[in-house]
Amino acid sequence: MSGPSTYNPKPGLMTWLDDRLPIIRLGYDSFVDYPTPRNLNYWWAFGGILTVFLMIQIITGITLAMHYIPHEDMAFNSIQRIVRDVPNGWLLQSMHANGASFFFIAVYIHMFRGLYYGSYKAPREILWILGVVIYLLMMATGFMGYVLPWGQMSYWGAMVITNLVGAIPFVGEAIREWLWGGFTVGQATLNRFFSLHYLLPFIIAAVVGLHIWALHVPGNGNPVGISVKTKKDTLPFHPYYTVKDGFAILLYLMIFCFFVFFMPNALGHADNFIEANALSTPSHIVPEWYYLPFYAILRAITFDIGPIDAKLGGVLAMFGAIAILFVLPWLDTSKVRSMRFRPLTRWFFIFFVVGALGLGYCGANNPDDIVFGGIKFLWLAQFLTFYYFAYFLLILPILGIVEKPKPRPASIEESVLGTSKA
Ligand code: HEM
Repeated sequence: MSGPSTYNPKPGLMTWLDDRLPIIRLGYDSFVDYPTPRNLNYWWAFGGILTVFLMIQIITGITLAMHYIPHEDMAFNSIQRIVRDVPNGWLLQSMHANGASFFFIAVYIHMFRGLYYGSYKAPREILWILGVVIYLLMMATGFMGYVLPWGQMSYWGAMVITNLVGAIPFVGEAIREWLWGGFTVGQATLNRFFSLHYLLPFIIAAVVGLHIWALHVPGNGNPVGISVKTKKDTLPFHPYYTVKDGFAILLYLMIFCFFVFFMPNALGHADNFIEANALSTPSHIVPEWYYLPFYAILRAITFDIGPIDAKLGGVLAMFGAIAILFVLPWLDTSKVRSMRFRPLTRWFFIFFVVGALGLGYCGANNPDDIVFGGIKFLWLAQFLTFYYFAYFLLILPILGIVEKPKPRPASIEESVLGTSKA
């Protein structure tokens, strides 16, 4: 709630309730009179957008589960039945499948916003780490959800990813069988993935609760990265940010609706309209778009590194690319949060974003194909993987010490109104 409570319950029922369970006070202090920096821009609306999409996914998912059948002979057809025969089933299915993509678009924008404005720095390290936990849970949920329609890409995607675990020395094979619940991807795998895909969103919701708690203790960061000093630096959350966030949510929902109604399958893969067939491997197995950068990192390690063979190296690099985010608050040595005042680091950040998109492009293509001028996708992916790790392990630690930041305004109020004395 970021400050003492300002809630004054009306005498009678509200006071009675407040003395016993101050839940209205919690809501009021967190979302009505919550002091919010007055300079937040639209990049701060994505937390609210994410909350809406988590709710959309849970509601449409529960309803789809009423009609879906987690059986290897019936799963594929049960989705077709939902889309064709269940009243409004086409809408639920389209919202859920496209909702996953829009959830990931929003989470990537939310994360890059955090990287640019240094939202992960003290005192928001735990908030950031909880975000990375949410992101990992989202990846696991998305992966298991994609297996449920039991199309060709569902089946073979699950096969490729679960097989990666086999690269772990000594215990890998045993863990893989344990994940499968048998000796290959099959009925037992489908059943447990369905169970976990249903469970995980509720765990995500619980971690989001902690995430927002950890946000409301230090309060929001802001585009200039200066901490709130006086009341003049803030505005009450309602109506200022309920209206601003509401507007952004509506705009984002309109783009979402365009996909749901006019291009429901544009983000999917054509091969997933073919039922899973263990005897026919698709020529080109690709995961959903939101995993592509990590898939490119996985395939970029084609050489042994000392005692680590290439396959294990790829798996370690892929997981390392996410794990490194956990320690980011301690890798960036700069005292200045916002990159607005870090002229050099800002360029490296822009190249980092371009590099992440480039990795996604590499992940979608065959490593041996040519990007341009005789350069293979593999080489590009290797270069961008190197840059990805160098950004966190070399560039941020070194630039934080050597870069001379630009002068910053004295307060948030001054940065907006130009009034307070520097
Ligand atoms: C279901 C997913 C998520 C939800 C619902 C969510 C929700 C929110 C909300 C409502 C806010 C406050 C408004 C805003 O700053 O946008 C916020 C802030 C924040 N989130 Fe998330 N978040 C999610 C995922 C993540 C992830 C994956 C990360 C990073 C890995 C992350 C890192 C942060 C940080 C650092 C802030 C503070 C930003 C600042 O005030 O400067 N969040 N989140």
